[in-house]
Amino acid sequence: MPSTSQCRVCGDQVTEFFDFGRQPLSDAFHTPGFDFEKEFFFRLAVGLCQGCTMVQLMEEVPRDNMFHEEYPYHSSGSAYMREHFEGLAKRLLATELTADDPFVVELGCNDGVMLKVMAESGVRHLGVEPSGGVADVAAAKGVRVRKSFFEESTAKEIAAEDGRADVIYAANTLCHIPYMESVLSGVRALLKPTGVFVFEDPYLGDIVERTSFDQIYDEHFFFFTARSVREMAARNGLELVDVERLPVHGGEVRYTLAPAGERTPSQAVADLLRDEAESGLAEPATLQEFGRKVTVIRDDLTGLLRRLKDEGKKVVAYGATAKSATVTNLCGITPDLVSFVCDTTPAKQGRVTPGTHIPVVTPDTFAADYPDYALLFAWNHADEIMAKEQAFRDAGGKWILYVPDVRIV
Ligand code: SAH
Ligand code: TYD
Ligand code: ZN
Repeated sequence: MPSTSQCRVCGDQVTEFFDFGRQPLSDAFHTPGFDFEKEFFFRLAVGLCQGCTMVQLMEEVPRDNMFHEEYPYHSSGSAYMREHFEGLAKRLLATELTADDPFVVELGCNDGVMLKVMAESGVRHLGVEPSGGVADVAAAKGVRVRKSFFEESTAKEIAAEDGRADVIYAANTLCHIPYMESVLSGVRALLKPTGVFVFEDPYLGDIVERTSFDQIYDEHFFFFTARSVREMAARNGLELVDVERLPVHGGEVRYTLAPAGERTPSQAVADLLRDEAESGLAEPATLQEFGRKVTVIRDDLTGLLRRLKDEGKKVVAYGATAKSATVTNLCGITPDLVSFVCDTTPAKQGRVTPGTHIPVVTPDTFAADYPDYALLFAWNHADEIMAKEQAFRDAGGKWILYVPDVRIV
């Protein structure tokens, strides 16, 4: 019998379709001296709700274990993502924030990559960010930040202190929050009737199409579709009024919600709903097939790395992503197969990868003695990374990719 749980959106039954087994916290990069007997693990498994079709994790990790003072992910680490968020900020300024004294709130503002533009434009704004370290980086850029988790009580306090918002925005954050009812009640309490809640997260359609299974890890609790988001919104007095597909992070959708009845849904909403129905996206058979492909990638990647090791090749990895925790722990990729992973994030360097304890080093170490192969964990930044590491390829180096299948390029 497959395991079941209760849907965090509608309360109906969630049936598991893939089990990744014992997994660590994907952003817990411990120092080599850490007492690894104390390393946190949980069972990472994913299921489909038979009621609202929301795909979600079977087990929830307590939020304080993931988002705290030392949360290491810094959004500004990619030039491409900086441009992406600056572009979005400018668009919001030109469209939704044109009234007198507009007010924008961002959930999970991280290091202020988006709100910096609002601060520089003199627009009233607030970032809500529970991870203290990155919140301090945002504050140093002139961004006004409140160090807390966004939920209903936080939203009501903000509305009382600052008034209601024209825009509430969240990138790669809403899917991190299992307590959805509290968040959406909060959004309703904080948003003006004329306002919008805009959020963007990895899209289940892209995850299934590319078998990008490494989008599934502790922090990503929900995997949205237009259909599941529409149902989730409707249960909370909101309406899905627009969707936009985005190329970032391997494929995302930006959803716009408005208080029910306030705006007319765009044609794009109807189109995406139709595509999802036609492809059978959130159907058990589609998700079972996804799971089968994951096991093929797992076996191919482990087979390739073992073969390269036997041939005496030097193999390292590039980008200590949160996503890679799922890959390394599912495939058993430890330092005997991949000697190190390089990453630009100071908060990860000198530490080891979660669960598999591969040392994280600076990109200088990578360049000092190019390996034969580099396993690209940050595959979603492939263009940016391959361009800046052209010298690696010039020196005869090859990249290993595993999404949508295992390939050497
Ligand atoms: N928006 C950024 C950061 C995404 S990482 C980007 O797209 O790059 C997810 C962020 O959400 C983290 O900084 C985490 O601390 C924050 N977060 C987690 N739970 C939250 C909550 N309940 N309210 C607000 N932020 C939250
Ligand atoms: P990312 O894929 O954005 O997210 P997640 O951790 O949620 O999976 O993480 C990219 C990681 O790759 C981040 O640790 C920074 C690192 N990185 C580099 O080391 N060099 C680069 O050129 C880029 C773009 C990222
Ligand atoms: Zn449900």
